Amino acid sequence: MKTTVELSKPVLAVPSRQGLTYYVKTFGCQMNEHDSERIAGLFEHDGMIKAESLDVSDVLFVNTCTIRENADDKLYGTLGHLKKWKEEKTSRKLLVGGCAAQKDKELVRSRAPWVDVVIGTHNLTNIINLLNQSEDWGPITEVLEEIESLPTDAPSARESEVSAWLTIQIGCDNSCTFCIVPSVRGPEISRRPSDIVNEATSMVESGVKEITLLGQNVNSYGRDLKIDGRSKPYFTELLTKLNDVENLQRIRFTSPHPKDFKLVTLEAVQNLSKVTNQIHMPLQSGSNNILRKMQRGYTQEKYLEKLQLAKDTIKNVSLTTDIIVGFPGETDDDFKETMYVIEKGQFDAVYMFKFSPRPGTKAADYEDQFVIKEQIDTRFMELKKVQTDISHVRLQRFIGTKQSLLVEKYSKKSKEFMTGKIDGGQTTHISANNVKIGDFVDVEITEATPFALKAILV
Ligand code: SAH
Ligand code: SF4
Ligand code: F3S
Repeated sequence: MKTTVELSKPVLAVPSRQGLTYYVKTFGCQMNEHDSERIAGLFEHDGMIKAESLDVSDVLFVNTCTIRENADDKLYGTLGHLKKWKEEKTSRKLLVGGCAAQKDKELVRSRAPWVDVVIGTHNLTNIINLLNQSEDWGPITEVLEEIESLPTDAPSARESEVSAWLTIQIGCDNSCTFCIVPSVRGPEISRRPSDIVNEATSMVESGVKEITLLGQNVNSYGRDLKIDGRSKPYFTELLTKLNDVENLQRIRFTSPHPKDFKLVTLEAVQNLSKVTNQIHMPLQSGSNNILRKMQRGYTQEKYLEKLQLAKDTIKNVSLTTDIIVGFPGETDDDFKETMYVIEKGQFDAVYMFKFSPRPGTKAADYEDQFVIKEQIDTRFMELKKVQTDISHVRLQRFIGTKQSLLVEKYSKKSKEFMTGKIDGGQTTHISANNVKIGDFVDVEITEATPFALKAILV
């Protein structure tokens, strides 16, 4: 059954922390990064100012991830260090939210009793309320089983002026056996298309040029919506509506699920002028045996068919994927099947992960089939080596081509360069002499390093 979302508490209380500083430290995926922007939005509404670093902040929010065990380890390490931060100034407030807090509220409390507020993923908009309560009554934990409010009900203080996340859907209805996300993010809930278009429009009015649509399974967007009894608005229709938003330059989306990719969506990506020619198609494994055990809902053959369809339908498509190495029971032959798809797919980039058992997921129970660490490491290194070469070769195809570049920020390495992305999502550096943040310029690609491009204005 779908959850009806009703706000039970006012999101925007009267500002009460005028002049204090805040810092948000984020672990995890784009959803968390965007949730952190919402937290920052609520903090700023409460009167707080963003601190340059956590050392000079009065209020610190740690937004946690629990997708793999090392995410948990990082968190508890960080919370350990933060004890000192709290002790340095007793008025400081330490708040912990996100997916690990949702999963392990007691553990957070017992490992770090100095935390003032533990908040889950389903009530993010209640953060100021909880902060107030902790000031009055001491440490507080609020982690709910069901969603209380959509994060999108909160204002957002964006990290980038030109490129913005736009949540279209929260949660996930799939049951991939390795994955903790459905249990920490809840069932899939799609936002109304009109809300999404309105948010896109107001983002553009505030200077945003590019939006990235966010969801765990974006191409199943709308499955749960029925508006005035009319047919469900599907992802492709949403893309079409957003393509009409005046002065918006670019639309990206992540993540689609291979099983739900439809030809009409691929055609829309090709035909809608603002939708970029970039597709992320998370494979996870190339072996049918493993895919079945992962409950991914496709076979290697079906996946390759869809990949080919993407290549045939979208001109100059840039393709990326996710791979899990060492899922329980993965044999050398299974891994060879993965490498076969990697060679055949010729992806622009592959995000690689070593399988990590997550308590509560089905795959965590396949303990008798766990692959030994050394074997996982060897396979991981092989995949990395092969893909690094493929990625470098793929980047070289851009040399000498003309591209549109959206300039997003100064390069981390040198103020003499600015960094942005071309249509396919490739990071591209350009001399800072002739461009400024927010420029959407025509460039020629002059060089490909293993992970990025260099360009000059044309
Ligand atoms: N909704 C997205 C995935 C979100 S999680 C999708 O279906 O594509 C991001 C990636 O983390 C996954 O694609 C997977 O490759 C990886 N991942 C998830 N759970 C994992 C686990 N238990 N161990 C290792 N990698 C995992
Ligand atoms: Fe996890 Fe699968 Fe949902 Fe992605 S689609 S979030 S991998 S359960
Ligand atoms: Fe994202 Fe990590 Fe949660 S990957 S959805 S922040 S568990």
